[in-house]
Amino acid sequence: MADVATAAKPSEFVAQLQAANLHPLWDRFRTITPVKPQPKDPPLLWRWRDIEPFTERAASQVPIDDVERRALILVNPAFAGDTVTTSNLIAAFTVLDPGDRARPHRHTFSAIRFATRAEGAATIVNGRRCNMHDGDLILTPPMCWHGHINESDHRIIWFDAANIPLLRTLDANFFEPGDPKANQFWMVDEGEEKLWTEPGLVGTELDYPATHSPKYHYSGAATRRLLAALSPGADGSRTVRYTNPATGDAVMPALDCYAVRLSKDRATRPKRTTCNMICLVVSGMGRSTVGEHTFDWSQHDVFSIPHWTLASHTAKGGDADLFVVSDKVALERLDLLREEYQ
Ligand SMILES: [Fe+2]
Repeated sequence: MADVATAAKPSEFVAQLQAANLHPLWDRFRTITPVKPQPKDPPLLWRWRDIEPFTERAASQVPIDDVERRALILVNPAFAGDTVTTSNLIAAFTVLDPGDRARPHRHTFSAIRFATRAEGAATIVNGRRCNMHDGDLILTPPMCWHGHINESDHRIIWFDAANIPLLRTLDANFFEPGDPKANQFWMVDEGEEKLWTEPGLVGTELDYPATHSPKYHYSGAATRRLLAALSPGADGSRTVRYTNPATGDAVMPALDCYAVRLSKDRATRPKRTTCNMICLVVSGMGRSTVGEHTFDWSQHDVFSIPHWTLASHTAKGGDADLFVVSDKVALERLDLLREEYQ
């Protein structure tokens, strides 16, 4: 039987446990098993008019040959200086001047780019040339070689997103540089992208990866046509999910993309979900209430919707289009997706 008089006090006991590389569950139970998700970051809006001058400075001060990518990453200070836009995700804007080539490379994180001012640029993905037009989405799935080139006579800017923070959490990223002098990398045409341009038609003998979309290039014009054809939902919004044409699933293993059209002056029903979202304003103006914050936004502004934070959106002055990138498919695959309407 323990001698009560000589038993260690709880604090001494905890110190002794810790010294032995043991932690008691009882004094940290609520910390390690919170009753609901606790996002680190408040929602944040990045205005295009604040970003654009920095893109000009980056283009003039940072030679493309000196850097892997000339990208400005949108960062929420709630992550204490870490390069994170919202949990699991980063967003950025990339700048290329005429003649610039962003060298080939590949990696295990999933990335996308959405053409905001990219007419005349091209992204090469696994030997396929994807010419970038207004509103196009281009995937660079895990371990697909890719590089970018500006063959126009004007500066190119596009929106990027990637799940780098998720892969850093999992410490599962691999990165391989390509040969920046390999001219043959750029000497390609549309290639096998032609196999995936006809909706509802799939070659029966094709060999394609099971893990991500075999289609890399999604046309902005096609997206706009489908948004226009859809009937608005009860809250006036219409949503298109970018999908893998072979499976109907999300485009990549842990990155999911949507196009949303909001109807003028009709607020979407407040909703929260366990996934994280970054919204790019493709066109129009409007207002979003995200958690305790209300943002007025216009074209090419970007805002975050951290997980488990109520969000509602309203277009002002006309319809407005958003491009939304999220980690929803990662949550789905872990059976952790929860969604709730207010
Ligand atoms: Fe990349």
